[in-house]
Amino acid sequence: MTQEDLDRQIVNCRKCRLWQEAKHAVLGEGPQDAEVMLVGQNPGAEEDKAGRPFIGRAGKFLNKMLSANGIDREKIFVTNIVKHVTPQNRKPSADEIEACVPYLVEQIKRGKPRIVVLMGAVAWQAPRVEGVEYVETVHPSAAMRFTKMRRRFEDDFALLAKRL
Ligand code: URA
Repeated sequence: MTQEDLDRQIVNCRKCRLWQEAKHAVLGEGPQDAEVMLVGQNPGAEEDKAGRPFIGRAGKFLNKMLSANGIDREKIFVTNIVKHVTPQNRKPSADEIEACVPYLVEQIKRGKPRIVVLMGAVAWQAPRVEGVEYVETVHPSAAMRFTKMRRRFEDDFALLAKRL
């Protein structure tokens, strides 16, 4: 399967109902062979409109955390465990995650990142690909709202930066 085949599969995916109300499938953004991959939950309304991950409020917060630690967002691949927006931005259901997660696994197998950062408890559910290191941190939306979570998010990104 080529990269185009995979992307086309995601764009045309009908394995759950989420495509029905979505404007775009949000595949992910960044170099396919990036050393680091960041994984969130699912695109929100702004991401759905633009077809790009993490461009809304959580994305701006994430960008700040990256630049504070000298990490260039253009050098990392940013995506989500679920590729379509959810109604009212609710948490994706177990069957929606199950339907979508093989695309993430394929992206990881193809891109072979050294480190995959899973942001938030939904992303933590991703099955692990052998030979790849996984880091679990909180979701940027939670880090924005809760001091304790923000500290953990800051600490985890500081540690990540040291290792690059
Ligand atoms: N939250 C996510 O989990 N992913 C996005 O792409 C945007 C917001």
